[in-house]
Parts: sequence; C-alpha cells; structure tokens
Amino acid sequence: MTLDGRVALVAGGAGTVGSGIVHAFLQAGATVLVPSRDPARIDALRDELEGPAGLVGIEADIADVAGAAAVRERIERDHGGQLDHLVTSLGGAWQGGPLRELDLAGLRAALHDFCETHFVAMRALLPLMTERAGASYTIITGVSGERLFDQAWGPASVGAACLFGLSMVTRAEYAEDEVRVNELRIGTRVLRQWPVESSPYEVSNRDIGRLVVSMARARVRSEVIRVGDRTELNAACGRFECG
Ligand SMILES: NC(=O)c1ccc[n+]([C@@H]2O[C@H](COP(=O)([O-])OP(=O)(O)OC[C@H]3O[C@@H](n4cnc5c(N)ncnc54)[C@H](OP(=O)(O)O)[C@@H]3O)[C@@H](O)[C@H]2O)c1
Repeated sequence: MTLDGRVALVAGGAGTVGSGIVHAFLQAGATVLVPSRDPARIDALRDELEGPAGLVGIEADIADVAGAAAVRERIERDHGGQLDHLVTSLGGAWQGGPLRELDLAGLRAALHDFCETHFVAMRALLPLMTERAGASYTIITGVSGERLFDQAWGPASVGAACLFGLSMVTRAEYAEDEVRVNELRIGTRVLRQWPVESSPYEVSNRDIGRLVVSMARARVRSEVIRVGDRTELNAACGRFECG
C-alpha cells in the first residue's frame, strides 16, 4: 500500500535510527516532516538521501513546549492539520556515569533527553491524530531501561525505563482511538549504513525504517514489538509484510 498523500513526522529524523525511518517513509511515497534543532543536520540528511522532494525540514526543538507548538502550527498551516504517522526516535548515546555519583541536575538531564523529549512531542502532535483513520504513532525505545549494561549507563537506564512507562500508559490510553500507538523496542545496535551484514547483532537503520513503515500500515495496535537481533527483525518484517 502506497503512502502517497500521507503526511509523516519523524521526531529525531536527523539521527541514526530516525534517518532510516525517514528514508522508508519517503520510499513509500509519504511527505516526511523532520524537525531538528540544527539546520545543518537537516541539510546533511537531505544530502544523504539525495535531495528527495517529499522531505520537509523544520528548524525547531521538538522537545521544547514552544518548539513543539510551533511544529504543530506549521502542520496546521501548511498541511491543513493532516498528520497520518508520527514516530518519536529521540534520545542519544550519552550514558551519564554511575547513578551513585550523580547529582539531581544530571538525573533531570537523563529524564529530559530519554523520556521528556518523547512526552513533549507526543503531547503536541498526537491530538492531531486521535480521530484520523489509519493514523499511527510509533515510539522507538532501546533495552537499556530493562537492565544495567555497565556502571556508566545508570542515568540513561533510568531515563529509558521512564520511556517504557510513558509508552505503556500512552498505548493504554489511546487503545480505543483511531490512532494506533505501538512501541518498537530495539535491542540491537543500529548503524547508519546500508546494507549491514557483518553481525547478527547489528542492523541497518534502513531495515528498521522498513519495519516501522510496515507497522504504520498494518492493523497492529497497543503492542510492544521487540527486535533484539537480525532474526527477530526478519520475523517482525515477515509478520508485517515489509516491502
Ligand atoms: N543507535 C542505536 O544503536 C540504537 C539502538 C537501540 C535503540 N535505539 C533507540 O533509538 C532512539 C534514537 O537513537 P539514535 O541512536 O538514533 O540517537 P541519535 O542519533 O543521537 O539521534 C537522536 C535524535 O534525538 C534528538 N534529540 C536528542 N536529545 C534531544 C533533546 N534534548 N532535545 C531535542 N531533541 C533531542 C536529536 O535531534 P536534533 O536533530 O534536534 O539534534 C537527534 O535527531 C533512542 O530511543 C534509542 O534508545 C538506538
């Protein structure tokens, strides 16, 4: 099924995972909105994807309440309020050091980067989609919220666990609405290159993108889809009929 005429927004679309998701939505024919705090990151994404016509960069901080409101106003002004598919792929690679040495500011920074960012984007944009037939919201998470990989990962693990809670409650609250809310929990390293065939525990961001677009098209709702390695990625792609 083509996504011609559909509008998608990928929060974090200039990042490692998000850029693969942007690529897949563009391949499917959607118009894809990508907010970034840094216009140079949007330019780099446009170059990487070879200047696709459907890519719309928006200079904004989607994790700031005023920035997210500006993005919403832009959708209302330029797209008549149409938003069919939302993905939040926000966070980063910083770990934060041992929790036992962290101050409150450090903990708040972790909660902001790994959890609040998704909340602010979701609160601003999901109301546009509540009653929209076929709409989807996919929350991208990692598995660092399930266990402590290393002492240095403490704050990042706390932030990631907060995101699991946000996902669980959002999936439950919107279970009866038109918009289908799902979480894609990635437990493998994602590389910004294609193809990736070197290890079963590394996958391409474009393969993740194909899966996210297939989930957006499918009837799946209120689920956590887990991808811990390439085998699970292939299984999920089989279930959702990745193109
Ligand atoms: N990379 C992996 O191997 C991997 C594996 C498993 C799961 N994941 C999950 O995938 C998601 C994205 O990770 P990634 O590796 O793609 O990260 P990334 O390359 O660092 O990109 C993260 C994006 O989030 C945005 N962002 C980060 N902090 C922000 C803040 N404080 N305010 C506003 N925007 C902020 C950035 O936007 P700007 O463009 O505005 O800078 C950036 O585009 C995370 O949930 C992560 O847990 C990643």
